[in-house]
Amino acid sequence: MLVSLAALIFVVISCLKRPAEKTDAATLPDSVYLKLGDQLVTLTFDTLRDALTTAIGQQGFAYAVSFCNEKAYPLTTYYQEEGITIRRASDKYRNPQNIADSLESALLDQFRTAGPATRIVRTENEIHYIKPILVQGMCLHCHGTPGVEIKPETLIAIAQKYQTDKATGYKEGDLRGLWHVVFSKNKKH
Ligand code: HEC
Repeated sequence: MLVSLAALIFVVISCLKRPAEKTDAATLPDSVYLKLGDQLVTLTFDTLRDALTTAIGQQGFAYAVSFCNEKAYPLTTYYQEEGITIRRASDKYRNPQNIADSLESALLDQFRTAGPATRIVRTENEIHYIKPILVQGMCLHCHGTPGVEIKPETLIAIAQKYQTDKATGYKEGDLRGLWHVVFSKNKKH
């Protein structure tokens, strides 16, 4: 997995690198960005989920509240150095930094009306990979219904850190938000 990810990054980066080939980056087909985005999201999600699962196993959900944050992991800094950013966004958010912007809100609406499917959106300077995030059973311990799936001590830990939390009341299979990877076309290496 890591090898093919490195290879894909190499392909995109080498296209972005040389000014003569700059247009190539913009004309790379959506399928390349879909594949690259899928791999980056899988790698990031696996890292986050592994740390979350370990934290839950060690000290429970209330303790693990600090681990469901992709920015807590060095991987995301590494991507930034390559002109790639990755974030999660939601319109029913826990961390206000993750509030969906206008592009993200439009995509969330599309996922609700047309069904959740990964999309590539091209703007003048960027290529956006956007993937829906659906709620799974284990997420309900922190995003389900307070007093039912979310234990009181977990709710206290959440409220201490996130005073404006809106990310509860979800059910399994609900649209929770989206992953958003941005590939900059103008990054100078
Ligand atoms: C141990 C508690 C916990 C569990 C389990 C958990 N989360 Fe979270 N989740 C959080 C916290 C805390 C945040 C805020 C992170 C931050 O500061 O960016 C968050 C944020 C998010 C966000 C970013 C948007 C927002 O609301 O700020 C998404 C999307 C998300 N979680 C999805 C999931 C999914 C999907 C699962 C299950 C696979 C899951 N979470 C499991 C605690 C949890």
